[in-house]
Amino acid sequence: MYVCLCVGVTGQQVIDAIEAGALTTKQVGECTGAGTVCGRCKKNIRALIAAELAVGQG
Ligand code: FES
Repeated sequence: MYVCLCVGVTGQQVIDAIEAGALTTKQVGECTGAGTVCGRCKKNIRALIAAELAVGQG
């Protein structure tokens, strides 16, 4: 499923970026391009970061 329609970035690509160390929407944007056009997907990127961090702590 696409998280960022502007750049065509999937949730899996965002998760991969988070696992590679991107912990902010800015860093995910630098890795994948997601969130760098209209910014509407940033909320979803933040939710993915929060979910990944929660999993990492579990
Ligand atoms: Fe991600 Fe527009 S949907 S920048």
